Amino acid sequence: MLVSAKEMLDKAKAGKYAIGHININNLEWAKAVLLTAQECNSPVILGVSEGAGKYMGGYKTVVGMVNGLLDELKITVPVALHLDHGSYEGAIECLEKGFSSVMFDGSKYPIEENIEKTKDIIRRAKELGCSVEAEVGAIGGEEDGVTGNGEVADPQECKMIADLGVDMLAAGIGNIHGVYPPNWKGLNLDVLADIQKLTGTMPLVLHGGTGIPDDMVKEAISLGVSKINVNTECQIVFAEATRKYIEEGKDHEKKGYDPRKLLKPGFEAIKEKVKEKMILFGSVDKA
Ligand code: 13P
Repeated sequence: MLVSAKEMLDKAKAGKYAIGHININNLEWAKAVLLTAQECNSPVILGVSEGAGKYMGGYKTVVGMVNGLLDELKITVPVALHLDHGSYEGAIECLEKGFSSVMFDGSKYPIEENIEKTKDIIRRAKELGCSVEAEVGAIGGEEDGVTGNGEVADPQECKMIADLGVDMLAAGIGNIHGVYPPNWKGLNLDVLADIQKLTGTMPLVLHGGTGIPDDMVKEAISLGVSKINVNTECQIVFAEATRKYIEEGKDHEKKGYDPRKLLKPGFEAIKEKVKEKMILFGSVDKA
């Protein structure tokens, strides 16, 4: 059964580790992440962007697929199904269709409107026992058509949004979606420390998990980050493994063109990457 992300994140914050939010794109992705979480005895958050939701055939399809996998694969670790960078309308739709957690990304609205809309989403989510993530300070880069400039969040604004009753808060601290440019200055950990001081026990979310050096990730966790979003890294290892299979001509050997064979190296590569992240984030055996 899907669960709200609140309890796993509160535990992570108190225990100074982080839960991986792994974006999923299709059946192989969802299955690979769930099986790895079970093997690692780790809680996990499956992230679905609006674009990925559309790609997979709509939110209802995603909910059906994930619930089916939980049941048939006998997944017993806590799993939340979370809308990533949701619009106001998208968040409402996902709550109605069975997601257990939503992010409402109101960072494009003026702060007053962000607050009003966030409050409404919180009210709807609470009625259903679902968790809510809000964002202050746009995350840089582009993800599925959602573009941000990489602002650094104002800690006072973070406190204002945290006090509305969200369950987790994403704050821009120089993080960017996708691969970091060679001249990237790194995370602004001083601002993160200020945000944590003002928001106390609120689990903080680090977007753009791909390519942040391990020691910086660990420092961010020690400063209150309890959820780390990873998408691009899984896409890259999936593509690399698939490319290798085809370049080695394996699709021409026997029935190597069968999608169950063709997509297996990519599937295994995602599993390995997710395991690596769960070890780094410290969530192994925390189910
Ligand atoms: P990356 O694609 O950089 O890993 O970021 C993922 C993310 O933040 C999803 O919200």
